[in-house]
Parts: sequence; C-alpha cells; structure tokens
Amino acid sequence: MNLPPSLTLFLGLISWCPCALLASKVIVVPPIMFESHLYIFKTLATALHQDGHETHFLVSEGRDVPPSPHYNFQRYPGIFNSSTADNFLQSKVRNIFSGRLTFLELFDILDHYSQNCDAVVGSAEVMARLKAEQFDLLLVDPNEMCGFVIAHILGVKYAVVSTGLWYPAEVGAPAPLSYVPEFNTLLTDRMSLGQRITNTAVYLVQRFGVHFIALPKYDRIMRRHGVTPRVAMADLVQGSQMWMLCTDLALEFPRPTMPHVVYIGGILTQPAKPLPQEFEAWVNDTADHGFVVVSFGAGVKYLSDDITRKLAGALALLPQRVVWRFSGVPPSNLGNNTKLVDWMPQNDLLGHANTRAFLSHGGLNSIYEAMYHGVPVVGVPLFGDHYDTMTRVAAKGMGLMLHWKSMTEEELRAALHSVISDSRYRQQARLLSAIHKDQPGHPVSRAAYWIGYLLRHGGADHLRSSVYHVSTLQYFLLDVIAVVATVAALLVFALYRAVRWLKGSRGAVAAAAASTSSGSSSGRGGVRDEDALTNGHCHSEAVVANGKHKRNGALRSEKKIN
Ligand SMILES: *[C@@H]1O[C@H](CO)[C@@H](O)[C@H](O)[C@H]1NC(C)=O
Ligand SMILES: *[C@@H]1O[C@H](CO)[C@@H](O)[C@H](O)[C@H]1NC(C)=O
Ligand SMILES: *[C@@H]1O[C@H](CO)[C@@H](O)[C@H](O)[C@H]1NC(C)=O
Repeated sequence: MNLPPSLTLFLGLISWCPCALLASKVIVVPPIMFESHLYIFKTLATALHQDGHETHFLVSEGRDVPPSPHYNFQRYPGIFNSSTADNFLQSKVRNIFSGRLTFLELFDILDHYSQNCDAVVGSAEVMARLKAEQFDLLLVDPNEMCGFVIAHILGVKYAVVSTGLWYPAEVGAPAPLSYVPEFNTLLTDRMSLGQRITNTAVYLVQRFGVHFIALPKYDRIMRRHGVTPRVAMADLVQGSQMWMLCTDLALEFPRPTMPHVVYIGGILTQPAKPLPQEFEAWVNDTADHGFVVVSFGAGVKYLSDDITRKLAGALALLPQRVVWRFSGVPPSNLGNNTKLVDWMPQNDLLGHANTRAFLSHGGLNSIYEAMYHGVPVVGVPLFGDHYDTMTRVAAKGMGLMLHWKSMTEEELRAALHSVISDSRYRQQARLLSAIHKDQPGHPVSRAAYWIGYLLRHGGADHLRSSVYHVSTLQYFLLDVIAVVATVAALLVFALYRAVRWLKGSRGAVAAAAASTSSGSSSGRGGVRDEDALTNGHCHSEAVVANGKHKRNGALRSEKKIN
C-alpha cells in the first residue's frame, strides 16, 4: 500500500507523539568506581534516548566517560578522577590478594562512598544547578547510596537500578530464611539445619551492619548539611518507587517478591558479532578442540602472581586453545596454547561456535553473557557479588566454583576438564540460555518500559505495598498475637472457673441427693450409701481436698439448692 508522504508523516507523528509529549529528564547517580556498572547505565541511556527521554549522568570531574549523543553529564568536584579511582580499586584488590579481610576492604570502599557523598551534598553550587535542571526521575545504584540523599534534596521521585546480583532485604519483601539465602552466604535455596542457622546469623549481622553502620553515615551527612525536611536514611531507601534488579529467574532462586520489584538482569547481552580479523584467524584454527575464554573482568587489572601461575599452568594442560585477557607481566609457565590479549571482544568470542568454556571471576555482566550464549563456566570469585553469582551458576548446574585461596593447579585443570567434557554443563547452560531469552522483550527494553511506566504514572505509587507503613511489631503480628493470647487466656480462665463452678454445684446436688437417700432408707440402704460415697462424693472430695474454692462453691450451691 502506497500512502501519500504527508499521510505517512502524519501517521508517524501520531505514533511518535505520545513519547514526545512525555519526554522526560532522567538523572543517573552511578557509583564512583566500578566501570562495569556504568556500562549498564550507558546501555540504558541509549534505550531511554530512543524512547525520547533525556539522560544525565552525575559523575565527578575527571571521570573519563566517552561522550555520546545519548547522554549528558552533570559534573561535580568529587574525591576521585578516573585514574585515582582505578588506583584505589587496584590497591583494594591487591590488599585482598595479600590476605587482608575482604569485608574490611569493602568497608573502606563504603567509607569513600560517603566521603564523596559529603562532597556532592556539601556543594551548594552543584545542588542548585541540579535543582534548576528539574529532573523528572533519579535512578540510584544502591551500591552507592548517595543517590537517595540527592533525590531527597532535589525533591525528585527516584527508583533503584541495582547492577549487582542482589535482592536487598530493605525492599521489604518477605524473605523466609528457611529457603531465601542471604547475600554473601554462599548458600542456595536448599539448606540444612546448620546452613539455616548460618543464613539467619548472616542475615542478622547484615541488617545490623546496614542499620547501625552503613545508613547512619548518610544520616550524619544529611544532618551536617542541614538537609530539610529531616528524614531517616532508612526511610529514604524504602521510598524508592521501584526496584529494578539485575537478576533473572534463569539464574536466581525463586523467592517471594513485590509488585514494584522487576528483574532486568542481562542488560548487556546481545548476539555475537563477526570477530575482528586478528581473532577470527586465531579462532579458525581451533576447529578440532575448540577454545576457552579467560577473563577476570575490566575492574581487576592484576591478579596475584600465585593465582596467575596456577591459571597459566592449568590452562597449558588443556587440549583447547586459550584466549586470556591479561595485563601485567606474563607468567613464565604460560602454555604455547595460550594467547594473552589486552582486550578482547568477549561477547563475540563467547558467542562463537568453537567456545568450550569460560574461566571467569564471576562478574555478573560476564556471567550473563556466558549464559546468553549457553557457555559453561568455571568461576573463581574474588569479592562482592561474585560469590553469589557463582553459587547460583554452580547450583543451576551451569558450571563450577573454585576458591582462589585454596585452589590448586590440578583442581583448576580438573574443573575446566569437567565442564568441557561433561556435556551436562553445556546442556544446562543452553537450557538456562533458553529460559533467560524467553521473556517479553530484551532486559534493556523491559527496563526502559518500566522507567517509562514510572514517568507516565507519577512514580506508580499504586505498586507500592503498605509494608512501609507498618512497624516491625505490626509486621510480625506481635500486637495481634498479644491481643488474641490475652483474650484466649481470659476465656480459658473463665471456662475453667465455670467448669469448677458447675462441678461444684453438681457435687453439691449429688451430696444432697446422697444425704436424702441415706436418710430415707435404712439397714440395707447403708451399704448403698457407702457405695455412693466412694463413687461420687468422697471421690470428688478427694480431688478437691486442697481446693478451698470448691468447698466454697459447694457451700454456695448448697445454699442455693436450699
Ligand atoms: C587525577 O587526580 C590526580 C590527583 O588529584 C592528578 O594527579 C591527576 O592528574 C588526575 N588525572 C586526571 C586524568 O585528571
Ligand atoms: C575463517 O573461516 C571462515 C569460514 O570457514 C572463512 O570464511 C574466513 O575467511 C576465515 N577467516 C580467516 C581470517 O581465516
Ligand atoms: C606445545 O607444547 C607441548 C608440550 O609442552 C608440545 O608437545 C607441543 O608440540 C607444543 N605445540 C606447539 C604448537 O608448539
């Protein structure tokens, strides 16, 4: 059908107009480090741009983000620029490898987050400039919670986009600890008694940490800068209009959730593109045994020498060829099957037919890419949500997890050999891939849809349950239990009294009857009288021997009878 150009234009305008009318300004507050989180926001910004929205990133001066027509920048003088943030992160990773406690390093990162937050919130110029922009929605990455405070100061509705594999308890969804494993426990949804005890203990410790260590940092920042109206950070967190979580039911254990929680895991997944010339020639040579992809992510630049040697040794023993994203000094025991590269088209390699396995740190973006392409994984988690991600990969049968502190070269080789030669891992990876892909739309378009939904419905308050309006006491029905228990206790007591009273009066009737019968009969009747005494009166008297009440009752009833 050929339409006149003006009509085509008109029809185009009709279908285009609703978006244009609702074109909105969205500001994203990404964490001040971890570039992998920013990849997700960049992809999201492109999708929002296509829907006619305008996206701004709040980033520090000196943070190197490639410019794009899909997003703008709001800069502020922060505590880091790109190079200092990277140095900081690498020093944390080195500390973890040298045996420092991981959670202490993570606490230090949290501490830097709040220092940076203090700098942003404390800058009147920055806050005034942001206010003048009149944003419609602010997206918070809960990895760094400053976004909640900024949204409050700007008076803008806000929603969470969590880029990690994490379902925060602070969402308020029911989380029965009998089958919902807490973050960082390395537990699955099938727990033994001991594991449930661990799960409960970790849950309590984490709630304590969140409410008495993490959140108060932000309460102090708000107090220091006189933020009004005054509000508790815990309430700000729960005020999120929506929780968009980078999780997916192909990977996550099913659990109770809430209407304003949506799963958008796999935002960066896409079909493989043709490989660059250099990689294509290399891959073409691997038709017989295939190849293994090795990457510990863009965030971790240097592994410890010990781990590097173990990896190189184990990889050298494989019949497959290996491509390893690597920076630093190459290990001396590198096999002649292993190719080291500074950068690789990871998604396109994972999507290649000759890929046999993926050796990874369990970074969520990487794992989604592997799952998308149905590639089995051997994971060596390092910190953060890597452990949670790999626990799920292993539990779902898509791969194996090793611990960097204890693993040996032989264990690593055996694990790689297993996932490559045991076809169940590959089959399971393909099954998860099919489940992951069988959803209404790609995760990025679903995320864009939900952001548009929030914008169209003024924050979609209708999705927020009333869990935020009940106290802990009310939530666990402790008040109801108290009332019901009291009423029940009173009823039981009243019943008890009534029964005692009835028994007493019947006893009195029996006694009265017994005395009448003994009085009326003589001789032979005396024996019967004794029977009556043992069976009835005396018996009940024995029971009530020490019960004054009964005697009183009996007296009273005797009076009544008389
Ligand atoms: C980052 O900051 C450090 C110290 O403040 C400075 O020496 C360095 O030149 C900065 N780098 C960039 C890329 O701005
Ligand atoms: C790799 O193999 C494909 C098909 O077998 C071929 O079309 C392509 O030219 C090869 N590429 C290189 C760089 O050898
Ligand atoms: C790689 O090394 C192994 C033994 O370490 C040797 O058998 C093999 O021939 C070497 N391959 C190449 C292509 O050099």
